[in-house]
Amino acid sequence: MCGIFGYVNFLVDKSRGEIIDTLIDGLQRLEYRGYDSSGIAIDGDKKGETLIVKCPGKVKALKEEIERLGVERSTIFDSHAGIAHTRWATHGQPMVSNCHPHRSDPDAEFVVVHNGIITNYRELKTLLLSKGHIFESETDTECIAKLFKHIYDTNLKAGFELDFNELIKQVLYELEGSYGLLVKSKHYPGEVVGTRKGSPLLVGVKTDKKLKVDFVDVEFTDQQDFSTSFNQDLMGHDNLRTSQSRAFLADDGLPMPAEFFLSSDPASVIQHTKKVLFLEDDDIAHIYDGELHIHRAKKNAGDSTIRQIQTLEMELNEIMKGPYKHFMQKEIFEQPESTFNTMRGRIDFENFNINLGGLKSFINSIKRSRRIIMIACGTSYHSCLATRSIIEELCELPVVVELASDFLDRKSPVFRDDTCIFVSQSGETADSMLALQYCLDRGALTVGIVNSVGSSMSRQTHCGVHINAGPEIGVASTKAYTSQYIALVMVALSLSNDSISKQQRHREIINGLKKIPEQIKQVLNLEDKIKQLCNDHLNDQKSLLLLGRGYQHATALEGALKIKEISYMHSEGVLAGELKHGVLALVDGQLPIIAFATRDSLFPKVLNAINQVVSRDGRPIVICNEGDDVLSNNEALATLHVPNTVDCLQGLLNVIPVQLISYWLAVNRGIDVDFPRNLAKSVTVE
Ligand code: UD1
Ligand code: F6R
Repeated sequence: MCGIFGYVNFLVDKSRGEIIDTLIDGLQRLEYRGYDSSGIAIDGDKKGETLIVKCPGKVKALKEEIERLGVERSTIFDSHAGIAHTRWATHGQPMVSNCHPHRSDPDAEFVVVHNGIITNYRELKTLLLSKGHIFESETDTECIAKLFKHIYDTNLKAGFELDFNELIKQVLYELEGSYGLLVKSKHYPGEVVGTRKGSPLLVGVKTDKKLKVDFVDVEFTDQQDFSTSFNQDLMGHDNLRTSQSRAFLADDGLPMPAEFFLSSDPASVIQHTKKVLFLEDDDIAHIYDGELHIHRAKKNAGDSTIRQIQTLEMELNEIMKGPYKHFMQKEIFEQPESTFNTMRGRIDFENFNINLGGLKSFINSIKRSRRIIMIACGTSYHSCLATRSIIEELCELPVVVELASDFLDRKSPVFRDDTCIFVSQSGETADSMLALQYCLDRGALTVGIVNSVGSSMSRQTHCGVHINAGPEIGVASTKAYTSQYIALVMVALSLSNDSISKQQRHREIINGLKKIPEQIKQVLNLEDKIKQLCNDHLNDQKSLLLLGRGYQHATALEGALKIKEISYMHSEGVLAGELKHGVLALVDGQLPIIAFATRDSLFPKVLNAINQVVSRDGRPIVICNEGDDVLSNNEALATLHVPNTVDCLQGLLNVIPVQLISYWLAVNRGIDVDFPRNLAKSVTVE
């Protein structure tokens, strides 16, 4: 995930070397979030010169690049503003031109680091190109830097020399999407403006003397007469500034030496200062002359007029995981957001349209293929199983699902008119990559469903869809599963977009998808009940069965995999229809069984299987829809209710309780959930 860091020193002597080290250190504290490239922007030797160094790879590589370039380290700056970034590619591959900071022009009059997505960047880019701006990257961010220059120049031509915060307000007016943003400019030396919308940003403050105030006033534009502030002739630069809050003045009224640390994550600020101010959406932080000002364009009723400077008492480790004990737990709880991000900008919920940019020009070729082969490993394989049936139903093509290793072992025949869909979180799994090469060699069309932008799989497939779930750090895959699932459903929908006979079904599924993030939130509320269930009935068990059929077979397999890989408890996912063909022999009054009995056309058959279990003294844990009580309290060990959705999406909700069960079983057994024994996050060996 992208990370932002900025450092401003005012009346505190720092050598360029120290400034670089502070920026690099700040970036290193963001590394845990996952990224693929990094960069910094600082002042150069000549007046108004900005030095940008950036490169793909680790922050360590950036440090080496700075050394390689022989950047001079001894010049002392008593006031200086530097910005830095770690990038997790969304627009364009990880390569130097796409790394942040991005510049407005070869002179780097404005440099920008950005987290988030500018959704109208294409329109902005078209406009800026028509005004003669030359773009150097494939990113959405670059249009922000160009926009700064464009608006600055336009104002200048009209005789207005804007304050930095006035300028950013005009820029923000043009931007759509989400952002955390820092901007530095040669026209405003020693200053930084930063803002956020849907992406976090905070400011840490460090002063020698104790701060006299623990808040900063919010300055609202609509309370001031900005018609005059645009015009320097009528209202001077200084005039405007002195009228605002002076939070960091010493007792004698003189500016006091201060350092400011701006970041998307308190983890990179805490070693410098514990005094931090968290910006709210649409706040603009403007730092200059040792002062921090917070501006907002508009005051709505109820808006707070101050921002508190808080004292962070958290340890670094706590910050990285937020309120969660483990990354896995954090990632489970991120699913309302990550599933939303998978759909963002791709589903038009009003007009029931799907637009997968990465597949657009390949849709007809895929539709013309003789069959679809889905190939993956582990959890990613389960997301293929979970969606196979809806792909078959909507696309009316035969679909086979293959484990990459077995597919290769069998040297399964592949033809030029096959479409092979590869699903992988990391995009680097060796078995899946070998299978990809095998299919490429045979001339098949290859499609990737991948989380890591710029990964080998994302690069080597003909086309594909990034699931945009954000980096997954816990070894056990959770949020990638739900996002892969949604991405595959979206593929099925876009392959059948123009089928009149499928229209009703399309609408039903799209309406269902819209509600999924909110419904996942509801299921996450089961955590306390699940914790209790694990404590009361499951902690000391040796084995566990999960029963499901139809859409829920994949959920049963995925639940069993989660449970074994992190709690080390033997568990097996069983197709409920197969129970009577052997597995029933295991059932007795002791063996814990989780049965998925949510409503779909197979519901009566699942009830049958559950009854077979109950009549052999089994007491299953039933996962069913709200309002359904499949078994009485005596018959069931527990009932977990989940909201109802369209049959082909129900697995997205049903998998959440089993993710939580596996997590709590592992925690209760004292296992390091994020790093289970013998397993690695990315399996790059055969
Ligand atoms: C793209 C942007 C996304 C932005 C959106 C706005 C990138 C990486 N994505 O998303 O940030 O919000 O435009 O319109 O710039 N691909 C493969 N194999 C894979 C995965 C993807 O070849 O396994 C290819 C796709 O075919 C496509 C490109 O990578 O050419 C980007 O894919 P994706 O991010 O899914 O495209 P968009 O959703 O259009
Ligand atoms: C299970 C898990 C693994 C991966 C598998 C494939 O929690 O994480 O089973 O799903 O190793 O990895 P990717 O999706 O990166 O190809």
